[in-house]
Amino acid sequence: MPTPVRVLEWNGASIWVFADAPSACCAAADRIVQVIQSGVNNRGKAVLGLATGATPIPIYERLVAQHRAGELSFADVTTYNLDEYYPISPADPRSYHAYMHRQLFGHVDIAPNRAHVFDSTVPEAFAAEHVAQYDRWIAADGGLDLQVLGIGRNGHIGFNEPEELPVEEALRLPSRLVDLHPVTRADASRDFGAEPQVIPRALTLGVAPILSACSILVLAFGTQKAEIVARSVRGPMTALVPASLLQSVPRRVTWMVDEAAAQALGTGRG
Ligand code: F6R
Repeated sequence: MPTPVRVLEWNGASIWVFADAPSACCAAADRIVQVIQSGVNNRGKAVLGLATGATPIPIYERLVAQHRAGELSFADVTTYNLDEYYPISPADPRSYHAYMHRQLFGHVDIAPNRAHVFDSTVPEAFAAEHVAQYDRWIAADGGLDLQVLGIGRNGHIGFNEPEELPVEEALRLPSRLVDLHPVTRADASRDFGAEPQVIPRALTLGVAPILSACSILVLAFGTQKAEIVARSVRGPMTALVPASLLQSVPRRVTWMVDEAAAQALGTGRG
């Protein structure tokens, strides 16, 4: 496993700073492999929460390469993706279904019925029941062994967007249908061609099920993430910076960032 150039601690969470994003992604992939192997050895299965976006692509490439080399099997792995635009067909290349198929599911031996992504074809009247069912499936699977997260420039995790809400309420947010924040829509325009074309709503895993994971790995790369990483780990905890809510479960959280994303962090504490 590549070693971080330094490890900081802020508010109880560990922040592993790597020389560059590829090194961080190697370390993150290795961590995922460890979780898969120990889950499969100890309880016959591993349950992962997965993210999409640009950040984890090299991680999926590494996992696929290890699978192709005969070193890694997904036969006993169950996955739950964080989010999906709503509404969208899984066949739409901009959907997170299609992304996951391109990046991972289409190249490994995961059972299709264990690779869960929200169904964004459900009629809106059934969306709340669908996402509640998704939370129940995760619980019935014994919870997430590891949740992998990216972070939006606005601090979103999954599509839990910044909002004015008391922290206690924000920590209890379940999976639900949400409106995307303007910064999220602007960033998503790279996949949709232009901002007006971005699907403005999404189904997302809630803050509460994310925080219930046994361990949480947050990845952030590049200078454009530096300010929000610092606000998330140094506090204060606020629903206006959803990633700061991870401070409520600090010992379960590891950040893996590159030097650029760490530049506003200072030397850390503890
Ligand atoms: C994706 C997700 C989002 C992204 C975040 C960062 O499933 O839940 O929260 O992790 O928007 O996206 P990138 O990695 O493209 O910067």
